[in-house]
Amino acid sequence: MNRYVITGGKTISGEIACQGAKNSVLPIIAAATMCDSPCTLKNCPEIRDVAATLAILRHLGCEAEFEGGTLKIGCELSSAEIPDALMREMRSSIILLGALLSKHRRANISFPGGCELGPRPIDLHIASFRKMGVKIEERHGSLICDAEKLHGAYVHLDFPSVGATENIMLLAARAKGRTVVENAAKEPEIEDLQGFLNACGARVSGAGTSVIVIDGVAELHGAEYAIMPDRIVAATYLAAAAITGGTLTVTGVEPSHLGSIVSIFERSGCELVIGEDRIALSREGAIRPVGTVRTMPYPGFPTDALAPVMAYLSLAKGSSVFFETIFQNRYKHAAELMRMGAAIKVQGSVAVVEGVRRLSGAKVMATDLRGGAALVIAALAAEGESEVTGIELIKRGYEKFDSNLRALGAQIEEHR
Ligand code: EPZ
Repeated sequence: MNRYVITGGKTISGEIACQGAKNSVLPIIAAATMCDSPCTLKNCPEIRDVAATLAILRHLGCEAEFEGGTLKIGCELSSAEIPDALMREMRSSIILLGALLSKHRRANISFPGGCELGPRPIDLHIASFRKMGVKIEERHGSLICDAEKLHGAYVHLDFPSVGATENIMLLAARAKGRTVVENAAKEPEIEDLQGFLNACGARVSGAGTSVIVIDGVAELHGAEYAIMPDRIVAATYLAAAAITGGTLTVTGVEPSHLGSIVSIFERSGCELVIGEDRIALSREGAIRPVGTVRTMPYPGFPTDALAPVMAYLSLAKGSSVFFETIFQNRYKHAAELMRMGAAIKVQGSVAVVEGVRRLSGAKVMATDLRGGAALVIAALAAEGESEVTGIELIKRGYEKFDSNLRALGAQIEEHR
């Protein structure tokens, strides 16, 4: 298992261009397979989750060519069966179900496994698909789906699920009639998916609000589209600068996507200068505790930013309290941070982070994508050397993480 070896104490300073958003490019890749001609996606991040999705597309007979941030996707799919091994590689590949059914009216995929964050149910996806006329049989861990009678429908989501909202948009884009999604997720990635679908000739409106309306069309043509910037990756680099007392500018971001995150950094004593497409952060005084951080669906504080921000606040002069309201196992990284000297008490969905004066380098293991990034952030500020293993999890969502940090002053090397 590869690992990062990090020597703490260096400030993270300079300028970094933000990568394309993992959680936007994945549904947009799925949407591209629904088109009747090829698509070109720009600003596509070079991350493991994209590679895993392309492996599934190639298994389905779809051509995909990725070169220097540009991804070209063909439109021929010779199969609609996704085997267990590929489905288990990445839970979010459930997003392909809506795309396969929308264009081919049938699909056979294995039930996506859970992930490091706990069970990842898809009941909202399945209930919505059935309302839209899809016959779904759950047999021996597989979902056998028949969408010959696919039609638009009024769908109310019990929870504003990002994945379910995206899957319904894909399925509805080529369904007969109108689909209305109520209590839809409002994340920026949903708006990016709407932008791509409409660039391909779909008729989608309302993304970014809790009601999305999709009028199905018979065909979708290919398009060229630039993926939005990754707001969680931007937050991660800002946390790395904040914890080390550096001065960092993240460029190529959409500042409005980071409102709740900027407010936390400001409350903790950082100074942030917001530009049109950039955010600059610096910190003079001590890190201040921020009171309560509650994760919420967008535009609330994103659950994906919890771990990086928790690592940063582990050196605050006082205690901060986190309430995780989205996932069951969002605190698995806390025990690893404690190996570095952090003082964190976890009780169910609540974590109390009591700031300590210093962190010390240690051997730690990434527990999940964002938890792994949090360990790197802590190691950058810790005294001495740290080893972070399980870095394949970090590479799922962070492009060139070690070389980017090195360019900003970090002493970090990948070792086999
Ligand atoms: C997306 O996951 C993101 N992943 C996650 O980012 C992100 O944390 C999450 O949205 C919330 O913002 C991608 O976009 C690929 P949900 P998703 O459906 O779609 C429950 C990262 O680190 N639920 O909004 O799976 C579910 O169990 C990843 O980049 C059901 O109960 O999130 C969870 O508790 C991690 N039934 C909650 O809803 C369902 O049918 C939120 O899930 C679907 C979801």
